[in-house]
Amino acid sequence: MRRFLLLLCISLILFTSCTKKEESGNEPLLILRYADNQPEYYPTTKAARYFAALVKERTNGKLLIEVYGNGKLGDEKSTLAQITFGGIDFSRFSLGTLTDDYPELSVLQLPYLYDDTAHMWRVLDSEIGNEYLEIFPPDSMVGLCWLDAGARSFYSTRQISSPSDLQGLDIRVQESELISSMMTLLGANALQIAYENVYSALKQNLIDGAENNLPSYLSMQHYQVAKYMYMDEHFRIPEVVVMSAEAKRKVEALDPSYMGIIKECAKAASRYEREQWQKAEEEALSTLTESGCIITYPSLEDKEQMREIMNPIYDLYTGHDKAIIAQILLKRTQ
Ligand code: GCU
Repeated sequence: MRRFLLLLCISLILFTSCTKKEESGNEPLLILRYADNQPEYYPTTKAARYFAALVKERTNGKLLIEVYGNGKLGDEKSTLAQITFGGIDFSRFSLGTLTDDYPELSVLQLPYLYDDTAHMWRVLDSEIGNEYLEIFPPDSMVGLCWLDAGARSFYSTRQISSPSDLQGLDIRVQESELISSMMTLLGANALQIAYENVYSALKQNLIDGAENNLPSYLSMQHYQVAKYMYMDEHFRIPEVVVMSAEAKRKVEALDPSYMGIIKECAKAASRYEREQWQKAEEEALSTLTESGCIITYPSLEDKEQMREIMNPIYDLYTGHDKAIIAQILLKRTQ
Protein backbone atom coordinates (compact mmCIF):
# COMPACT_ATOMS: atom_id res chain seq x y z
CA MET A 1 0.00 0.00 0.00
CA ARG A 2 2.83 2.36 1.00
CA ARG A 3 4.58 1.53 -2.24
CA PHE A 4 1.42 2.25 -4.19
CA LEU A 5 0.99 5.65 -2.46
CA LEU A 6 4.62 6.51 -3.12
CA LEU A 7 4.25 5.66 -6.83
CA LEU A 8 1.05 7.69 -6.98
CA CYS A 9 2.81 10.71 -5.46
CA ILE A 10 5.73 10.42 -7.89
CA SER A 11 3.37 10.16 -10.87
CA LEU A 12 1.42 13.17 -9.64
CA ILE A 13 4.59 15.24 -9.23
CA LEU A 14 5.80 14.23 -12.69
CA PHE A 15 2.41 14.98 -14.22
CA THR A 16 2.18 18.44 -12.61
CA SER A 17 5.72 19.42 -13.54
CA CYS A 18 5.12 18.36 -17.16
CA THR A 19 1.95 20.43 -17.36
CA LYS A 20 3.75 23.36 -15.84
CA LYS A 21 6.59 22.98 -18.28
CA GLU A 22 4.16 22.90 -21.11
CA GLU A 23 2.35 25.94 -19.74
CA SER A 24 5.57 27.86 -19.33
CA GLY A 25 6.57 26.65 -22.83
CA ASN A 26 3.59 28.53 -24.24
CA GLU A 27 4.07 31.62 -22.17
CA PRO A 28 5.37 34.71 -23.95
CA LEU A 29 8.81 35.87 -22.88
CA LEU A 30 8.11 39.37 -24.15
CA ILE A 31 4.90 41.30 -24.71
CA LEU A 32 5.23 44.19 -27.16
CA ARG A 33 2.76 46.93 -28.06
CA TYR A 34 1.88 48.01 -31.61
CA ALA A 35 0.07 51.32 -32.28
CA ASP A 36 -2.13 52.30 -35.22
CA ASN A 37 -4.44 55.31 -35.36
CA GLN A 38 -6.93 53.60 -37.69
CA PRO A 39 -10.06 51.63 -36.71
CA GLU A 40 -9.91 47.88 -36.07
CA TYR A 41 -11.27 46.79 -39.48
CA TYR A 42 -9.05 49.19 -41.50
CA PRO A 43 -6.43 47.54 -43.80
CA THR A 44 -3.40 48.71 -41.80
CA THR A 45 -4.83 47.58 -38.47
CA LYS A 46 -5.77 44.22 -39.97
CA ALA A 47 -2.21 43.94 -41.27
CA ALA A 48 -0.90 44.71 -37.79
CA ARG A 49 -2.91 41.80 -36.36
CA TYR A 50 -1.77 39.57 -39.21
CA PHE A 51 1.85 40.52 -38.41
CA ALA A 52 1.31 39.83 -34.69
CA ALA A 53 -0.19 36.40 -35.44
CA LEU A 54 2.72 35.48 -37.73
CA VAL A 55 5.32 36.56 -35.18
CA LYS A 56 3.57 34.58 -32.45
CA GLU A 57 3.50 31.48 -34.63
CA ARG A 58 7.10 31.77 -35.83
CA THR A 59 8.47 32.34 -32.29
CA ASN A 60 6.31 29.58 -30.78
CA GLY A 61 4.44 32.13 -28.73
CA LYS A 62 7.58 33.62 -27.15
CA LEU A 63 6.95 37.07 -28.66
CA LEU A 64 3.47 38.40 -28.20
CA ILE A 65 2.49 41.60 -29.99
CA GLU A 66 -0.62 43.36 -28.75
CA VAL A 67 -2.20 45.62 -31.35
CA TYR A 68 -3.85 48.86 -30.22
CA GLY A 69 -5.86 50.42 -33.06
CA ASN A 70 -8.10 53.47 -33.05
CA GLY A 71 -5.32 55.72 -31.79
CA LYS A 72 -5.68 54.16 -28.31
CA LEU A 73 -1.99 54.77 -27.63
CA GLY A 74 -2.14 58.38 -28.84
CA ASP A 75 -2.20 60.35 -32.07
CA GLU A 76 0.58 59.86 -34.63
CA LYS A 77 2.82 62.67 -33.40
CA SER A 78 2.75 61.49 -29.79
CA THR A 79 3.19 57.88 -30.91
CA LEU A 80 6.29 59.00 -32.78
CA ALA A 81 7.68 60.55 -29.60
CA GLN A 82 6.88 57.38 -27.63
CA ILE A 83 8.48 55.10 -30.22
CA THR A 84 11.62 57.22 -30.12
CA PHE A 85 12.12 56.73 -26.39
CA GLY A 86 10.83 53.14 -26.36
CA GLY A 87 7.41 53.67 -24.73
CA ILE A 88 5.71 51.94 -27.68
CA ASP A 89 7.34 49.02 -29.49
CA PHE A 90 5.84 49.11 -33.00
CA SER A 91 3.85 51.65 -34.94
CA ARG A 92 2.51 52.37 -38.41
CA PHE A 93 3.03 55.92 -39.65
CA SER A 94 1.95 57.92 -42.63
CA LEU A 95 5.10 59.55 -44.05
CA GLY A 96 3.14 62.80 -43.81
CA THR A 97 3.71 62.63 -40.06
CA LEU A 98 7.41 61.85 -40.35
CA THR A 99 8.79 64.29 -42.89
CA ASP A 100 9.20 67.24 -40.50
CA ASP A 101 11.48 65.04 -38.36
CA TYR A 102 12.96 62.99 -41.23
CA PRO A 103 13.04 65.39 -44.22
CA GLU A 104 14.86 62.77 -46.35
CA LEU A 105 11.49 61.00 -46.65
CA SER A 106 9.89 64.00 -48.39
CA VAL A 107 10.98 62.71 -51.77
CA LEU A 108 8.72 59.64 -51.45
CA GLN A 109 5.57 61.71 -51.08
CA LEU A 110 5.92 64.42 -53.69
CA PRO A 111 2.74 65.45 -55.50
CA TYR A 112 2.02 63.44 -58.66
CA LEU A 113 5.28 61.50 -58.26
CA TYR A 114 3.82 58.06 -58.93
CA ASP A 115 1.61 57.33 -61.92
CA ASP A 116 -0.38 54.72 -60.01
CA THR A 117 -0.21 52.06 -57.27
CA ALA A 118 1.90 49.71 -59.37
CA HIS A 119 4.49 52.43 -59.99
CA MET A 120 4.67 53.25 -56.28
CA TRP A 121 5.19 49.60 -55.38
CA ARG A 122 7.89 49.17 -58.02
CA VAL A 123 9.73 51.96 -56.20
CA LEU A 124 9.08 50.81 -52.64
CA ASP A 125 9.89 47.17 -53.42
CA SER A 126 13.17 48.15 -55.07
CA GLU A 127 16.52 49.10 -53.61
CA ILE A 128 15.14 52.67 -53.29
CA GLY A 129 12.45 51.55 -50.84
CA ASN A 130 14.94 49.37 -48.96
CA GLU A 131 17.37 52.25 -48.55
CA TYR A 132 14.67 54.56 -47.19
CA LEU A 133 13.70 51.92 -44.62
CA GLU A 134 17.24 52.28 -43.30
CA ILE A 135 17.29 56.03 -42.75
CA PHE A 136 16.15 56.06 -39.13
CA PRO A 137 18.87 56.61 -36.52
CA PRO A 138 19.66 53.17 -35.04
CA ASP A 139 19.15 54.47 -31.49
CA SER A 140 15.56 55.55 -32.19
CA MET A 141 13.77 53.13 -34.52
CA VAL A 142 14.05 50.56 -37.29
CA GLY A 143 11.99 50.63 -40.51
CA LEU A 144 10.36 47.24 -41.17
CA CYS A 145 8.10 47.53 -44.22
CA TRP A 146 5.95 49.78 -46.36
CA LEU A 147 2.15 49.81 -46.53
CA ASP A 148 -0.27 51.17 -49.11
CA ALA A 149 -2.41 54.20 -48.32
CA GLY A 150 -3.76 54.89 -51.79
CA ALA A 151 -4.07 58.32 -53.36
CA ARG A 152 -5.27 61.39 -51.49
CA SER A 153 -7.87 63.81 -52.82
CA PHE A 154 -9.67 66.88 -51.53
CA TYR A 155 -13.12 66.89 -49.97
CA SER A 156 -15.16 69.75 -48.70
CA THR A 157 -18.46 71.00 -47.41
CA ARG A 158 -18.62 72.93 -50.70
CA GLN A 159 -18.45 71.68 -54.25
CA ILE A 160 -14.94 71.71 -55.74
CA SER A 161 -14.98 71.44 -59.53
CA SER A 162 -11.61 72.87 -60.50
CA PRO A 163 -8.27 73.78 -58.87
CA SER A 164 -9.34 77.43 -58.56
CA ASP A 165 -12.22 76.40 -56.25
CA LEU A 166 -9.62 75.58 -53.60
CA GLN A 167 -8.56 79.20 -53.34
CA GLY A 168 -9.36 80.74 -49.99
CA LEU A 169 -10.64 77.46 -48.49
CA ASP A 170 -9.49 76.44 -45.01
CA ILE A 171 -8.15 72.96 -45.54
CA ARG A 172 -7.05 70.60 -42.80
CA VAL A 173 -3.70 68.97 -43.45
CA GLN A 174 -1.44 66.55 -41.61
CA GLU A 175 1.11 68.04 -39.27
CA SER A 176 3.62 68.58 -42.06
CA GLU A 177 5.31 71.67 -43.44
CA LEU A 178 5.58 70.10 -46.89
CA ILE A 179 1.83 69.54 -47.12
CA SER A 180 1.08 72.99 -45.71
CA SER A 181 3.26 74.50 -48.44
CA MET A 182 1.31 72.58 -51.09
CA MET A 183 -1.91 74.19 -49.85
CA THR A 184 -0.33 77.63 -49.94
CA LEU A 185 0.62 77.09 -53.58
CA LEU A 186 -2.98 76.15 -54.33
CA GLY A 187 -4.20 79.35 -52.66
CA ALA A 188 -5.84 77.49 -49.75
CA ASN A 189 -5.18 78.04 -46.04
CA ALA A 190 -3.58 75.03 -44.43
CA LEU A 191 -4.62 74.11 -40.90
CA GLN A 192 -2.62 71.37 -39.23
CA ILE A 193 -5.01 69.29 -37.15
CA ALA A 194 -4.55 65.78 -35.73
CA TYR A 195 -6.45 63.10 -37.67
CA GLU A 196 -8.68 62.26 -34.70
CA ASN A 197 -10.04 65.82 -34.59
CA VAL A 198 -10.87 66.36 -38.27
CA TYR A 199 -14.45 65.13 -38.05
CA SER A 200 -15.38 67.59 -35.31
CA ALA A 201 -13.51 70.43 -37.05
CA LEU A 202 -15.60 69.79 -40.19
CA LYS A 203 -18.81 69.44 -38.23
CA GLN A 204 -18.24 72.70 -36.36
CA ASN A 205 -17.32 74.47 -39.61
CA LEU A 206 -13.87 75.29 -38.29
CA ILE A 207 -12.53 74.14 -41.66
CA ASP A 208 -14.01 73.95 -45.15
CA GLY A 209 -12.44 70.66 -46.07
CA ALA A 210 -9.58 68.21 -45.84
CA GLU A 211 -7.81 65.68 -48.03
CA ASN A 212 -7.31 61.98 -47.63
CA ASN A 213 -7.71 58.56 -49.24
CA LEU A 214 -11.14 56.95 -49.73
CA PRO A 215 -11.01 54.43 -46.85
CA SER A 216 -10.07 57.20 -44.36
CA TYR A 217 -12.74 59.56 -45.71
CA LEU A 218 -15.26 56.78 -45.16
CA SER A 219 -14.09 55.20 -41.91
CA MET A 220 -13.60 58.51 -40.07
CA GLN A 221 -17.07 59.56 -41.25
CA HIS A 222 -15.76 62.75 -42.82
CA TYR A 223 -18.07 62.07 -45.77
CA GLN A 224 -21.06 62.67 -43.53
CA VAL A 225 -20.03 66.28 -42.96
CA ALA A 226 -18.14 67.04 -46.18
CA LYS A 227 -19.89 65.28 -49.03
CA TYR A 228 -18.08 66.81 -52.02
CA MET A 229 -14.99 64.91 -53.09
CA TYR A 230 -12.71 66.13 -55.85
CA MET A 231 -10.73 63.10 -57.04
CA ASP A 232 -7.58 64.94 -57.99
CA GLU A 233 -5.34 62.24 -56.39
CA HIS A 234 -2.67 64.86 -55.73
CA PHE A 235 -0.34 62.43 -54.01
CA ARG A 236 0.27 58.98 -52.65
CA ILE A 237 1.78 58.96 -49.20
CA PRO A 238 3.36 55.61 -48.41
CA GLU A 239 3.12 54.33 -44.85
CA VAL A 240 5.85 52.67 -42.87
CA VAL A 241 5.88 50.16 -40.01
CA VAL A 242 8.65 50.81 -37.51
CA MET A 243 9.99 49.13 -34.39
CA SER A 244 11.57 51.05 -31.53
CA ALA A 245 15.30 50.63 -30.97
CA GLU A 246 14.52 49.70 -27.38
CA ALA A 247 12.21 46.85 -28.46
CA LYS A 248 14.87 45.65 -30.91
CA ARG A 249 17.43 45.55 -28.11
CA LYS A 250 15.10 43.49 -25.88
CA VAL A 251 14.19 41.09 -28.69
CA GLU A 252 17.83 40.52 -29.67
CA ALA A 253 18.76 39.87 -26.05
CA LEU A 254 16.19 37.05 -25.99
CA ASP A 255 17.21 35.39 -29.22
CA PRO A 256 19.35 36.88 -32.02
CA SER A 257 17.25 35.08 -34.67
CA TYR A 258 14.05 36.90 -33.66
CA MET A 259 14.85 40.13 -35.55
CA GLY A 260 15.08 38.18 -38.81
CA ILE A 261 11.69 36.60 -38.08
CA ILE A 262 10.17 40.00 -37.31
CA LYS A 263 11.45 41.45 -40.59
CA GLU A 264 10.12 38.52 -42.62
CA CYS A 265 6.72 38.69 -40.92
CA ALA A 266 6.58 42.45 -41.58
CA LYS A 267 7.20 41.88 -45.29
CA ALA A 268 4.42 39.27 -45.35
CA ALA A 269 2.10 41.72 -43.60
CA SER A 270 2.94 44.33 -46.23
CA ARG A 271 1.83 41.97 -49.01
CA TYR A 272 -1.35 41.14 -47.08
CA GLU A 273 -2.13 44.83 -46.52
CA ARG A 274 -1.90 45.62 -50.25
CA GLU A 275 -4.66 43.09 -50.98
CA GLN A 276 -6.76 44.44 -48.13
CA TRP A 277 -6.15 47.96 -49.35
CA GLN A 278 -7.40 47.30 -52.84
CA LYS A 279 -10.61 45.76 -51.49
CA ALA A 280 -11.10 48.60 -48.99
CA GLU A 281 -10.73 51.23 -51.72
CA GLU A 282 -13.27 49.53 -53.98
CA GLU A 283 -15.74 49.04 -51.13
CA ALA A 284 -15.29 52.63 -49.96
CA LEU A 285 -16.01 54.02 -53.41
CA SER A 286 -19.27 52.13 -53.74
CA THR A 287 -20.40 52.87 -50.15
CA LEU A 288 -19.65 56.57 -50.59
CA THR A 289 -21.50 56.75 -53.89
CA GLU A 290 -24.51 54.96 -52.39
CA SER A 291 -24.43 57.33 -49.41
CA GLY A 292 -24.95 60.35 -51.64
CA CYS A 293 -21.41 61.73 -51.79
CA ILE A 294 -20.81 63.85 -54.85
CA ILE A 295 -17.59 62.66 -56.42
CA THR A 296 -16.14 64.88 -59.14
CA TYR A 297 -13.32 63.72 -61.40
CA PRO A 298 -11.04 66.50 -62.67
CA SER A 299 -10.43 66.83 -66.39
CA LEU A 300 -6.95 66.01 -67.69
CA GLU A 301 -6.31 69.74 -68.09
CA ASP A 302 -7.28 70.42 -64.48
CA LYS A 303 -5.05 67.63 -63.26
CA GLU A 304 -2.19 69.04 -65.30
CA GLN A 305 -2.86 72.46 -63.83
CA MET A 306 -2.74 71.03 -60.28
CA ARG A 307 0.55 69.33 -61.09
CA GLU A 308 2.04 72.56 -62.41
CA ILE A 309 0.85 74.61 -59.44
CA MET A 310 2.43 72.16 -56.99
CA ASN A 311 5.61 71.61 -58.96
CA PRO A 312 7.74 74.14 -56.98
CA ILE A 313 7.52 71.73 -54.01
CA TYR A 314 10.03 69.50 -55.79
CA ASP A 315 12.70 72.19 -55.50
CA LEU A 316 11.66 73.44 -52.10
CA TYR A 317 11.82 70.08 -50.35
CA THR A 318 14.20 67.89 -52.28
CA GLY A 319 17.12 70.13 -53.16
CA HIS A 320 19.73 67.40 -53.58
CA ASP A 321 17.47 64.42 -54.28
CA LYS A 322 17.20 65.05 -58.02
CA ALA A 323 18.99 61.80 -58.86
CA ILE A 324 16.53 59.81 -56.75
CA ILE A 325 13.55 61.53 -58.34
CA ALA A 326 14.97 60.58 -61.74
CA GLN A 327 15.33 56.95 -60.59
CA ILE A 328 11.76 56.95 -59.30
CA LEU A 329 10.46 58.34 -62.58
CA LEU A 330 12.39 55.69 -64.49
CA LYS A 331 10.32 53.08 -62.65
CA ARG A 332 7.19 54.28 -64.41
CA THR A 333 7.82 51.67 -67.03
CA GLN A 334 10.30 49.19 -65.52
C1 GCU B 1 -4.26 58.54 -43.40
C2 GCU B 1 -3.19 57.79 -42.65
C3 GCU B 1 -3.16 58.16 -41.19
C4 GCU B 1 -3.02 59.66 -41.03
C5 GCU B 1 -4.15 60.33 -41.79
C6 GCU B 1 -4.12 61.84 -41.69
O1 GCU B 1 -5.52 58.14 -43.01
O2 GCU B 1 -3.40 56.41 -42.77
O3 GCU B 1 -2.08 57.52 -40.57
O4 GCU B 1 -3.06 60.02 -39.69
O5 GCU B 1 -4.09 59.94 -43.15
O6 GCU B 1 -4.55 62.47 -42.62
O7 GCU B 1 -3.66 62.36 -40.68
